Amino acid sequence: MDYGEITAELALRLSPKRLQHSLGVSKSAESLAEQFGSNREKAKLAGLLHDLAREVPMNELLPRAQAFGIVVNDVEQAQPILLHAFLAAKMAEEEFGVHDAEILQAIMMHTTGGSDMTLLDKIVYIADVIEPQRTFKGVDEIRKIAKVDLDKAMLVALDQSIYHIMKNGGLLHPATIAARNAILLKKTIK
Ligand SMILES: [Fe+2]
Ligand SMILES: [Fe+2]
Repeated sequence: MDYGEITAELALRLSPKRLQHSLGVSKSAESLAEQFGSNREKAKLAGLLHDLAREVPMNELLPRAQAFGIVVNDVEQAQPILLHAFLAAKMAEEEFGVHDAEILQAIMMHTTGGSDMTLLDKIVYIADVIEPQRTFKGVDEIRKIAKVDLDKAMLVALDQSIYHIMKNGGLLHPATIAARNAILLKKTIK
């Protein structure tokens, strides 16, 4: 499937707003890839597909993830919405014929982050945060930082996400803590 065909298929699965978000992430990921020397085509495709499973009904997320053999931890069990990222990676492979491991991993990591994020993983994570339709408080600051330092942008975005979850009394996913620690450790070792 080419980009246009995937977009048409996504239009059947996502609300117009989510489709626009996906196209925005795709575009932002492409320009971040150009800026930081990653593969533009991979970034574009991972961005387009990242929320493929975002509108799978809530009660189907867990059984569908389990049917794919995804190992579900306690936090995901309690908040199945987190599984949309894992499920999207599996669906991208099975239903859209995407077999590139880097693209699939970037899709998989877009919500929680992870300890060993590649450049592409970070690009898709940040593109999801800063795509043009995002309007949350602090987004312009992250957009500005992302123009110069992707790791710094990740750190600020992860901090914001963690603050937000804590403020709402939510569960923190271990991969989000791991992602933040990995960036801080990398800075310390440098
Ligand atoms: Fe998502
Ligand atoms: Fe998204």
